[in-house]
Amino acid sequence: MTLSTIKDIKKIFLLTMIFTTGCGNKPDLSRFDLVKGEQIYNNTCIACHLAGMSSAAPKIGNQRDWAERINKGMETLFNHSLNGFNDMPPRGGKPNLSDEEMKDAVAYMVSKSW
Ligand code: HEC
Repeated sequence: MTLSTIKDIKKIFLLTMIFTTGCGNKPDLSRFDLVKGEQIYNNTCIACHLAGMSSAAPKIGNQRDWAERINKGMETLFNHSLNGFNDMPPRGGKPNLSDEEMKDAVAYMVSKSW
């Protein structure tokens, strides 16, 4: 296989990813507890993710802030919120929040931001 074939395969793979994830398909959030997620958001995440906050965090309700992030897939968002991502602290700085609670909070923010 030549190098350019490998590059072509990569391109096709990337394009397929963009088409399958980027067509405005909303992720299925039915397995999450959005009520609980809202409480966790209000207790913790709001400090940085509320509209008007000066942080670099994507603001809740702002589709422009979230569209690209949602396209990365929920698993990536969960991973980044659990383990941290640039200025996003692991678990929003609350190490006692469980994985489930974090996922509910992410799902809640996403559900308000598309
Ligand atoms: C101290 C401020 C702060 C708090 C508190 C905080 N975040 Fe964030 N968060 C950020 C910043 C800043 C970013 C943007 C990071 C970047 O894209 O460089 C971010 C990004 C994210 C992202 C997007 C990650 C991605 O891959 O694009 C998710 C999801 C997220 N936060 C979830 C949460 C949840 C859930 C909570 C509450 C439990 C929370 N955050 C609390 C600052 C915060």
